[in-house]
Amino acid sequence: MKKIVIALDGHSSCGKSTTAKQVAAELGYAYIDTGAMYRAVTLYFLDHHVSLTNPKEIKDALNNIEITFHYNPKTQRNETYLNGLNVEDEIRKMYISNQVSEVSVVPEVRRAMVAQQQKMGRRRGVVMDGRDIGTAVFPDAEVKIFMTADVDTRARRRQQELLVKNQLVNLDEIRENLQKRDHIDSTRAESPLRRAEDADLLDTSHMTIDEQVEFVMHKVASKLLEQKYSVEQD
Ligand code: DC
Repeated sequence: MKKIVIALDGHSSCGKSTTAKQVAAELGYAYIDTGAMYRAVTLYFLDHHVSLTNPKEIKDALNNIEITFHYNPKTQRNETYLNGLNVEDEIRKMYISNQVSEVSVVPEVRRAMVAQQQKMGRRRGVVMDGRDIGTAVFPDAEVKIFMTADVDTRARRRQQELLVKNQLVNLDEIRENLQKRDHIDSTRAESPLRRAEDADLLDTSHMTIDEQVEFVMHKVASKLLEQKYSVEQD
């Protein structure tokens, strides 16, 4: 069966990555967390004091950055590597969340990440989550979902995720971070966060993860059936 691209875009912390991971596992597809790539770039820029107003520093830094994902059987998840170093835990910390949207606005950063993401999905068979997958990275994705949830629900879920990693963060701080990121992500000039015209809307405020996965899998099944019939008719 022909493999497809599944694009899951939407606001921060509305369950995109958990849903995307499960959908990828059910289909035997690769899962690509594009937010992790912007987070890894942010970590590198902070560590190397790259100035966001110096194009030469940005270009040099981007030439020195290699981001890869490797499966860790112990944690049973794909983990993010920056220049060969496992940075999975570091990039999820609040100080990265507080800077990542500013770094993601930089056009050179976006171009470099979009090119890498297109390369990763060139053979299709991928589930990608992010902000601009259905609009800029794979505008021809066969399944596009735009996910959202009310901000209080998202803040509570994010707080739980951090707590599991032994990071106790105040709910107001998390809510403020989410609102700030939503604003920067949606208003930036280059590939802003927006719902593609042909994306299905999924509000997860009152949904369980299983229900979210089921929603996406239903869309995937319809698309695969549609393709099967159009091939048979050709
Ligand atoms: O999905 P996340 O919260 O880990 O993403 C972190 C940030 O990365 C998000 O605030 C905006 C940016 N991002 C982006 O600009 N484009 C993407 N495709 C994915 C993430």
